[in-house]
Amino acid sequence: MKASIALTPGDGIGPEVVQEARLVLEAVAQRHGHEFKFSEHLLGGCAIDARGTALPDETLAAARAADAVLLGAVGGPKWDDPQAKVRPEQGLLAIRQALGLYANVRPVRPHPALARLSPLKPERVAGVDFVVIRELTGGLYFGTPKGRTMTPEGERAVDTLVYTEGEIRRIVKLAFQMAQQRRQLVTSVDKANVLESSRLWRKVAIEIGKLFPDVKLEHQLVDSCAMRLITHAAHFDVIVTENMFGDILTDEAAVLAGSLGVLPSASLGGSRLGLYEPIHGSAPDIAGRGSANPVGTILSAAMLLRHSLGLEKEAREIEGAVNLALEEGKHTADLDAKNPLSTAQMGEAVRERLA
Ligand code: IPM
Ligand code: MG
Repeated sequence: MKASIALTPGDGIGPEVVQEARLVLEAVAQRHGHEFKFSEHLLGGCAIDARGTALPDETLAAARAADAVLLGAVGGPKWDDPQAKVRPEQGLLAIRQALGLYANVRPVRPHPALARLSPLKPERVAGVDFVVIRELTGGLYFGTPKGRTMTPEGERAVDTLVYTEGEIRRIVKLAFQMAQQRRQLVTSVDKANVLESSRLWRKVAIEIGKLFPDVKLEHQLVDSCAMRLITHAAHFDVIVTENMFGDILTDEAAVLAGSLGVLPSASLGGSRLGLYEPIHGSAPDIAGRGSANPVGTILSAAMLLRHSLGLEKEAREIEGAVNLALEEGKHTADLDAKNPLSTAQMGEAVRERLA
């Protein structure tokens, strides 16, 4: 098949890890007779430096025209001034919103070879295999009013947590559809004992649940969910939650996998077009050294093949190659390796195991 893939490597280690994922995609294309056309675009801090905006029009246009977008990471100390008018993260939020990518899918399945890296006891990590579906274009991140005003008592700041039934319905529905393909359990996470938006969330979740009698629905308050993610993570199958809760819970969940460096994510909307990125950030402290772990980005490329291009077999091939490489002790520095592989060597180790 023919497909066009827009790359937005971004900042910090972004370019290094995206390069390895691209080489893996090229290798897969060659093995299966596909034709992937790649183009590179500015997003985040590098776009601020070059164009004065975190999401240049040309990047957005290229993303819209592509079948999928593969993103590295955005941000870094250079752009961290809290007074700054433009911030790299705005580029990420703006592209999610402009492309209508309302569902962020973050699978967490710790690799047995990395279990020793988790700060949790091995028995707490054993059998963990769940996916978090985080609402991505609503809630506190985008609600209005938002901003700061001066009052006689000093400054006042406001953010607004708002959800409509329609926004909740589409994300919860996606969670149920995913659960049908998995272990048929949806955990809807909210704060319905306090928040009105959560009470609406819960009502809609129950309504949607009736359309999926084969899937069990449970509700969990976000604070106790945070706890159970550490004490009983193997219980979960599909977790669905609003934007901010999902942001926090997915960083917490990443600890189960032993390293942030190995986890992928997909941001999906109503069409085939999706945005794929590792869940780690730009890691400015190790940028440019060729030591970053490319696995999270390579697994994001696998998700790209699965969700945007419908290439399930090829996606599994990449996941299989990553598993094999990790099992055989091919590890980058973040995985506490004695003789760590470089970013490029890790990418090569994965490509050699495609089969
Ligand atoms: C994430 C990140 C972003 C978010 C930041 C960089 C804006 O933390 O993708 O989880 O909060 O959504
Ligand atoms: Mg986050």
